[in-house]
Amino acid sequence: GFFRMHLNEQQRRSYLEAMGIDVWLPRDPVAGAPVAAASPDAGASAAAPPATDTVAATVAATSAAAAAADGGAVAGAVAGAIAGLDWDALRRRVADCTSCALHCGRTQTVFGVGDPGASWMFIGEAPGAEEDRRGEPFVGRAGKLLDEMLRSLGLARDRVYIANTVKCRPPGNRNPTGAEAQACRAFLDRQIELVAPDVIVAVGKVSAGNLLGTDEPIGRLRGRAHRLGTIPLVVTYHPAYLLRSPAQKRLVWADLCLARELAQSGSP
Ligand code: URA
Repeated sequence: GFFRMHLNEQQRRSYLEAMGIDVWLPRDPVAGAPVAAASPDAGASAAAPPATDTVAATVAATSAAAAAADGGAVAGAVAGAIAGLDWDALRRRVADCTSCALHCGRTQTVFGVGDPGASWMFIGEAPGAEEDRRGEPFVGRAGKLLDEMLRSLGLARDRVYIANTVKCRPPGNRNPTGAEAQACRAFLDRQIELVAPDVIVAVGKVSAGNLLGTDEPIGRLRGRAHRLGTIPLVVTYHPAYLLRSPAQKRLVWADLCLARELAQSGSP
């Protein structure tokens, strides 16, 4: 976990305590075993008291706590190590990642797919059951609808780049927590940097909220131009929502037309 890499036991414990996080110590400390920490938003398995797989649960909880310390020196150091990676190295780092509790429940990581030089980048929320099984984003029912949206724009799936906010499937398809998104953020940032798209489409509230660092409702974020650094960004409804509320497709189409304009003009 992040803490083990850069802090000694005492520093780590005071850091967790300073954040108001309960520190769980094993009754029978195993040599080298890290301290487990339960954080209120560290995810279902991390928040569970003494788990059977103590080491895995401990690492997950500790890293989730590290990620919860938004902007902390440790998370920053890890992000720094990811910032320079090329595609292959980045892919390997994602595949091996155990930075948050979500790794415990995955079949495999879901990295991202498409043209690494794409003009359009779509960023969703998290893998669902089908994505977890196949290792590719947006291949379930919502994905079929995303493909349709792309076709309407004259874009083939392999001409855009598609990624998610988190690379592991949350249990029961719940939304990823802010801490989980934060733990995965450096991977996404590097993907964005490597693709360097002309426009980003943030698909759904979780993606938009995490990318823009806001909890404004999606109804207020969509329909206008944002920026992520120098890259124009448009927020739109998630295709899973459109499956339940097809009448909103009209608004999504308007968002995609805005994104197309921004991709061409380069400025909001
Ligand atoms: N929903 C998402 O946000 N991403 C996927 O990959 C699948 C469904």
